[in-house]
Amino acid sequence: MTPSFDAKMKSLKDMVVERMFQAVPSENPVTLYEPIRYAIASGGKRLRPVLLLLVCEATGGRPEDALDAAVALELVHNFTLVHDDIMDNDDLRRGKETVHKKWDRNVAILSGDALLVLAYSMLHRRSHNRLAQVLDDFSRGILQVCEGQTLDKEFESRKDVTLAEYFDMIDKKTAELFSVACHVGSVLGGGTAEQMAAMRIYGKKLGRAFQIQDDLLDVIAEENVLGKDIGSDLEANKKTFLVVHALQHSDDRQKKQLQAILHKGKVTTDDVRAVIDLFKQTKTLDAARLEVDTCLQDAKKALLPLPDNSARLQLGELIDLVAGRNS
Ligand code: IPE
Ligand code: IPE
Ligand code: MG
Ligand code: MG
Ligand code: MG
Repeated sequence: MTPSFDAKMKSLKDMVVERMFQAVPSENPVTLYEPIRYAIASGGKRLRPVLLLLVCEATGGRPEDALDAAVALELVHNFTLVHDDIMDNDDLRRGKETVHKKWDRNVAILSGDALLVLAYSMLHRRSHNRLAQVLDDFSRGILQVCEGQTLDKEFESRKDVTLAEYFDMIDKKTAELFSVACHVGSVLGGGTAEQMAAMRIYGKKLGRAFQIQDDLLDVIAEENVLGKDIGSDLEANKKTFLVVHALQHSDDRQKKQLQAILHKGKVTTDDVRAVIDLFKQTKTLDAARLEVDTCLQDAKKALLPLPDNSARLQLGELIDLVAGRNS
């Protein structure tokens, strides 16, 4: 990463965080607004809003013109995380207790709901001639996330999930918001039809790679670096890229071993180690890394229709950042 890239990332993140806090009322009841502030304050990479702002700039706009939409997208993302942690029964997010753990489920459901409403209020703050398109993108995207999350939960009780079904699920639950980020950025930047279409693809490919890596990190990351519970996907019998691939490439003994761990409900560090070993034996880790690389190469190609400017270069550097992430 070049120093100018780091500085750019920081300045865009700072813009987003400052405006995001202005979006949250400091009113009663405290048990609604405090968890919201807690959820949005607890760090996070702010990848989706930064993407939106960079794409806006790369396609000819000013980041300030897209700031409300970028903040709205980060609020939507935080809404999905607060509810996702209830669904996945996770205790840790960004190195801190999840909202439902620190307060309770009702607080987490309501603060998630309110985050979504605050996101739409942010989008409506100013009227402009591209608002209808932006609202449509957001609404379609969020519905896709709901579909993806539904599939993710349904797959927990299935043994026969295919890689095609897996890709459909992650495209909806994760890649779609990346795609919304990049498409909305290009709409607000005034990009051409070709550039807007390319930005949908760039976001989708980046998002796919991001989720496969997220699956990998669930087993190979350090908990204190990742800030999330390690092995959480195994405990919930999630059909991650790794599990689907490994089940397809295992012999009967390996299949039995993996299924036994996936049905334990609670995994130890030894279980995680055994699963990693199994993933190595079945060449699953290599397959996941290859898939991530392929998606990221496709993302890079999708940048070609953009004008040759510094924001486009930074979108390229963002691909490298995602490729090397460990949290
Ligand atoms: C977490 O997203 C949810 C996934 C799609 C894997 P991020 O890893 O972008 O979460 P934060 O905002 O940086 O914590
Ligand atoms: C992320 O899936 C999808 C959404 C939050 C919509 P995960 O459940 O894998 O995300 P993490 O690992 O909890 O961040
Ligand atoms: Mg989940
Ligand atoms: Mg989760
Ligand atoms: Mg995950």
